[in-house]
Amino acid sequence: MGERGLIPPHGGELVSLVVSDATRRSLAQDALKMPRVVLPEREQCDLELLAVGAMSPLRTFMSEPDFHGVCTDMRLANGAAWSVPITCSVDPATAERIPFGSRVALTDEQDRTLAVMQVEEKYRHDKALECEAVYRTRDAAHPGVAVTMSQGDVCLSGPLHVLTPRHEPAFGSYRMTPAQTRTAFAERGWRSVVAFQTRNPIHRAHEYITKCALEICDGLMVHPLVGQTQKGDIPADTRMRCYEALLSNYYSARSAMLAVWPAAMRYAGPREAVLHALIRKNYGCTHFIVGRDHAGVGNYYGTYDAQKIFDKFEPAEIGITPLRFENSFWCRKSGSMATEKTTNSAAEDRVSLSGTAVREMLARGERPPVEFTRPEIADILIEDMRRG
Ligand code: ADX
Repeated sequence: MGERGLIPPHGGELVSLVVSDATRRSLAQDALKMPRVVLPEREQCDLELLAVGAMSPLRTFMSEPDFHGVCTDMRLANGAAWSVPITCSVDPATAERIPFGSRVALTDEQDRTLAVMQVEEKYRHDKALECEAVYRTRDAAHPGVAVTMSQGDVCLSGPLHVLTPRHEPAFGSYRMTPAQTRTAFAERGWRSVVAFQTRNPIHRAHEYITKCALEICDGLMVHPLVGQTQKGDIPADTRMRCYEALLSNYYSARSAMLAVWPAAMRYAGPREAVLHALIRKNYGCTHFIVGRDHAGVGNYYGTYDAQKIFDKFEPAEIGITPLRFENSFWCRKSGSMATEKTTNSAAEDRVSLSGTAVREMLARGERPPVEFTRPEIADILIEDMRRG
């Protein structure tokens, strides 16, 4: 255990790349004269996570040895566990115009400077390697592959000075840095905290596994991903209204809190589950929920692959404890939520609805059964559908 009894960050130290106010003012002026590289949404999300230490021990977009180590062996060049490349890439013509050792301004799509990078390395972005290793497919229909393939062919790496993690960040006080969540846990006296990653509204199955986890942990941090997702996923602002309604109606404020996670979704299934866990350790969490098909999409991954991948590491390499949950559902026979482990009921006794069926019900203005979704959540989703 580290400071105040909390779990130490990955690599031992919480990184911060945000410069002081005085430096920000002068660097902002200097940056106007530098070559400008517009970061796509995924890289903007990654930069924000790097800036606030969520990606500790990373201090830069990855160097070539880290990129290759992560792709082939799930390890950084220094041997630390890491499962997904974090890169900043440009097209070859742009890379050509950036001399080694020079500084570039990294900007958002409105040309506002986010950070300055001193470019010490340029290397070929081996997208085929990344896709095969991380997504286990090169299928362009996979949303994570599609983003990777749209990135530049040359990766840049070097020290980062971050002026601001994000201009106009959404979700105000819910956007907590790892240092802030660590303080919040310490203030609440939580010594063990389970993180719940989600990109969906919380249905009964999610609620069940978070509450099972809470029975063995002091606190729960519901930590929805609010960065880049794919079309078809429910927008973050709608989901936030669902989370607020759910927490205020069905959880205890003494043991549950809500904070947003400004990350991009990669849909990388097992590899992404490891990334999600390591990053939540940086936020101070000791446990991490991995249910069925965590961070999955389509049929690219087996139902429990995202649980099995943790067996490839020594527990101490990961540090945070994965809490594995089987597919859960409402069991009419038991009159409760259950899993294959906890009921002997037949399929017809189990309430299970496909995502498509739920969407169709909501579009008709119909609440899904209360055994599937709480009415307060159904109403928010129906209203969201009506607004289009
Ligand atoms: S994810 O992309 O963030 O993983 P989602 O929001 O659907 O997607 O899931 C959040 C977490 O709940 C994941 O750990 C997932 O495995 C788990 N989960 C979702 N539905 C179920 C279910 N019916 N039974 C068990 N675990 C589930």
